[in-house]
Amino acid sequence: PGSSPAGGPLRSRSVTAVSVRVPAKVNLQLSVGPLRDDGYHDLVSVFHAVSLFDELSAEPNEELAVRVEGASAEEVPADGDNLAARAARLLAERIGVHPGVLLRIRKAIPVAGGMAGGSADAAAALVACDRLWNAGLEPGELAELGAAIGSDVPFALLGATAVGLGRGERLSPVPVKGRFHWVFALAEGGLSTPAVYAECDRLRAAHGEWIGAPQVSERLTTALANGDAKELGSALANDLQPAAIMLRPSLRRTLTASRDLGALGALVSGSGPTCAFLAESDAHALDLAAALSDAGVARSIARAYGPVPGATVL
Ligand code: C5P
Repeated sequence: PGSSPAGGPLRSRSVTAVSVRVPAKVNLQLSVGPLRDDGYHDLVSVFHAVSLFDELSAEPNEELAVRVEGASAEEVPADGDNLAARAARLLAERIGVHPGVLLRIRKAIPVAGGMAGGSADAAAALVACDRLWNAGLEPGELAELGAAIGSDVPFALLGATAVGLGRGERLSPVPVKGRFHWVFALAEGGLSTPAVYAECDRLRAAHGEWIGAPQVSERLTTALANGDAKELGSALANDLQPAAIMLRPSLRRTLTASRDLGALGALVSGSGPTCAFLAESDAHALDLAAALSDAGVARSIARAYGPVPGATVL
């Protein structure tokens, strides 16, 4: 500390590695509109960032490379299809540099679990490479690049709690009082997001349902503003849940068990198969996690709180 190379100011020193921490999300409300011509659905998605974090570090390298570490590392593509690699390539193109970077990803967010783990890594790569390459893009510019990678990437950059409209990428922050405590039941194996959306369309067509434009739940936003966990628990809603259960019938048992064990609310997270349970307090979350673990209805259990900030340089 204190010495700077070649007498230059400290802040112009070239960066050797940048580490970024990025949270998982759960959708407190996920209302799915009709299928659009571009294959997406208009959404009202109330995103909530929780304290389950992936860590990504970016360091100079000859070529673009990705290394994934952690429990489920082998389930993540480590080639050019990796969302973090795509994000780094897109940013490099945008600012006109060679994408020479090694991205090391330490995964804690479940893979293909409905918690936007891949999008989180893409967001982390944008933030890390922006810093590594001294690009200095504005948050809005990073969000725009993020949206080109995936619908959930802009939220992983923003964090906290926000309503997402359009594909989920048009965000406005939602005021939240205090902190909410969550327990997550992680399932064996993932679910494909496009398959769950397609199953949702199929179920709706089979039931002849008419689907209107989704609306933000005022009950939910009021519960968030008041820090009212009980109200929030009963306002949780996910239109993808029936489809996820259809593709993974064991989720029904997981959700029922959590209600029997006193969760304030329970729902499938995003497109699943992770299930999210709201607890009254940190202590209640600990009890609920132990009871769920004993009930044997999940591969593993994680506890987390929200809201937390989006992708942050460490
Ligand atoms: O944007 P992203 O690549 O994460 O989306 C993955 C898939 O999820 C899309 O290809 C689409 O099938 C589905 N999706 C959707 N409507 C949205 C977001 C995602 O149908 N608003």
